[in-house]
Amino acid sequence: MIKPEIRYELEVAYGSQYGLEEALAAIESLKNRAPSCGKKVKEFEEAFADFCGTEYALAATSATTGLSLAGIAAGVGPGDEVITTPISWIATAMAFSTLGADTVFCDVDPRTLNLDASVLEARITPRTKAIVPVHLYGQCCEMDAIREIADRHGVVVIEDCAHNPGGEYLGKKSGSLGDMGVFSFHQQKNMSTLGEGGMITTDDKELFDRALSYRSLCCRTYGGSSKYLPIDEEAHPMGKEYWKLYFDDMGYNFRMTDIQAAVGIEQLKKLDGHNATRIRLAERLTAGLSGIEGLTLPYVDPRGTHVFHVYVVQVEEEFPLSKQDFMWVLYTEKGIKAWSHYMPIHLTDPYRAQGHAEGECPVAEAAHGKYVTLPVHPRLTDEAIDYMTGCIRELAEA
Ligand SMILES: Cc1ncc(COP(=O)(O)O)c(C=O)c1O
Repeated sequence: MIKPEIRYELEVAYGSQYGLEEALAAIESLKNRAPSCGKKVKEFEEAFADFCGTEYALAATSATTGLSLAGIAAGVGPGDEVITTPISWIATAMAFSTLGADTVFCDVDPRTLNLDASVLEARITPRTKAIVPVHLYGQCCEMDAIREIADRHGVVVIEDCAHNPGGEYLGKKSGSLGDMGVFSFHQQKNMSTLGEGGMITTDDKELFDRALSYRSLCCRTYGGSSKYLPIDEEAHPMGKEYWKLYFDDMGYNFRMTDIQAAVGIEQLKKLDGHNATRIRLAERLTAGLSGIEGLTLPYVDPRGTHVFHVYVVQVEEEFPLSKQDFMWVLYTEKGIKAWSHYMPIHLTDPYRAQGHAEGECPVAEAAHGKYVTLPVHPRLTDEAIDYMTGCIRELAEA
């Protein structure tokens, strides 16, 4: 019989972990009237850039808006092509489709399910403006190979780091491996800023300045921050004419709030610890599940650090249950919220409407019939992991 507290954590399968530090930071922000994009956002951005080893970081309302902002900074627009993976949350592609760009899907590596660098170059055309590799499930793509191809063709690389803040490849942090990196602080991610939030990282001042401007309606006067609470006196460079507003172009409001940033600062301090717990729990899962016939366990590339946003197994034909039945029994009979990350983007209705179809990415399509996500968030105990492995072994042997 599953204990209620274990059942709760396995059913609420993914998610944020906050403590007293975040609560106190939020209260402090409330005392300061919880402003929009002010000093705390700037402090969070500086801490995040420092963490990733980049010159700049820019907070946004989500990774979706962050990806769009990165695309705008890189000049992505109608007539351009953006290459990405079919296995990601649909936001990765939509962020650029909504800018008017055409999405080109590059097939995936069958072991990691990350964008396959060995077939990337064949997808590049004279219209290619950006490549958006997604560090899927917490593991970095082969960024050295991707960078080399992108540089040779003069194409911008925008890393989608939604799954792996703190992840590394060849000793460098995600977010510092492309021209820009984009992170998500949605409630399900490895760190969160009160349910929603995002961050762009870059070393490129020009890209940063453009993203900063478009984040806040291209209002030159307030420099990408909130017009209600300027970051400091420098936001008033016009003296007595401080009230006059000037705009460089048409932009957006993708500003993070100070209370989110205050919580994000505390989450960032805990990120390495939370990632270490995820890695330890994933290793326990791997130890408990290894040797089961028909169940392929995650491949961990030794060149990087996989921070296990989720733990994904592949259910092969030799397994006694189909993917669907396996998920259904785990969910309804065992109280484990198995999921499937994700529907291949090119086969969703909006992308079919653009002419995408089966056969475009055969490796991804075959993998979709097999991949199942198991929870591995830091609130889980060893007992919960052992319960999961016990249930799966029972199903494998039935
Ligand atoms: C790989 C990936 N990219 C982008 C996003 C979009 O993030 P957000 O929800 O912060 O907009 C997500 C969210 O789940 C994601 O998983």
